[in-house]
Amino acid sequence: LCEELVLLDIKEGLAEGKALDITQTAALLGFDTKITGSTNDYSKTAGSSVVVITSGIPRKPGMTREELIGTNANIVKGVAQNILQHSPDAIIVVISNPMDTMTYLTLQATGLPKNRIIGMGGILDSARFKCYLSLALGCSPNDLNATVIGGHGDTTMIPLIRYATWNSTPVSSLLNEEQQKQIVADTMVGGATLTKLIGTSAWYAPGAAGAALVESLVRDQKRLFSCCVSLEGEYGQKDICLGVPVVVGKNGWERIVDYKLNDDEQALFNKSADAVRNMNDVLKTL
Ligand code: LAC
Repeated sequence: LCEELVLLDIKEGLAEGKALDITQTAALLGFDTKITGSTNDYSKTAGSSVVVITSGIPRKPGMTREELIGTNANIVKGVAQNILQHSPDAIIVVISNPMDTMTYLTLQATGLPKNRIIGMGGILDSARFKCYLSLALGCSPNDLNATVIGGHGDTTMIPLIRYATWNSTPVSSLLNEEQQKQIVADTMVGGATLTKLIGTSAWYAPGAAGAALVESLVRDQKRLFSCCVSLEGEYGQKDICLGVPVVVGKNGWERIVDYKLNDDEQALFNKSADAVRNMNDVLKTL
């Protein structure tokens, strides 16, 4: 995907070690990207076109993403300002949790144009939605079209089952009510299920989802993804970053697509916005 990749961490030697480990796979996997690691030296990241922020502490079993806010807000704010200093033209992808609030914070801390700040939650949540749908339908997840909008939280995300299709057949005509409810519920705790099993945050699916987003940015693919972006009246909300379907290309998120929610879906979206807004208000107290 890129000519050059820089990994940066605060833990002495960790990023350098990971970079070297990945570099040693190059001859096996057939890539020639230059990969370097850095302990907290942002000058090594200078001139980046895309920066992905994953900094902060991950969830422990039983924790919500929202409980991370106190620690992660300070970390993400500092990271965002360092990025801006060395890569003023970068598009910033935010993965740190609580993701919707961290995206909002990054937008405020950098003052960058809104299209260059993208929170990655909905791509992961949509992939998990497709995973559970494919298990229930006994089908390939690649033949499914399914989207999760709203917040990236166990109670704030909205798997849009009415819109989900197996190729063009609505899944609602293939699964009974109970199955549909179960899939929606499993999707919403998709991350929490993982933290319970492995004792920390998931990484393969979040990593793959982050990579899909970066690919659409650097290849200007114009993929339609659910991402957390700044809303200015779209979907009835403003002064908030929340997950909605957007077209992703070389300029960042390029436009928001209006899915024409029904009243029930819009009510869920508004509820999700209220919860995220409450979390954003906590930023003022830190
Ligand atoms: C998850 C974390 C990355 O959902 O938020 O797995």
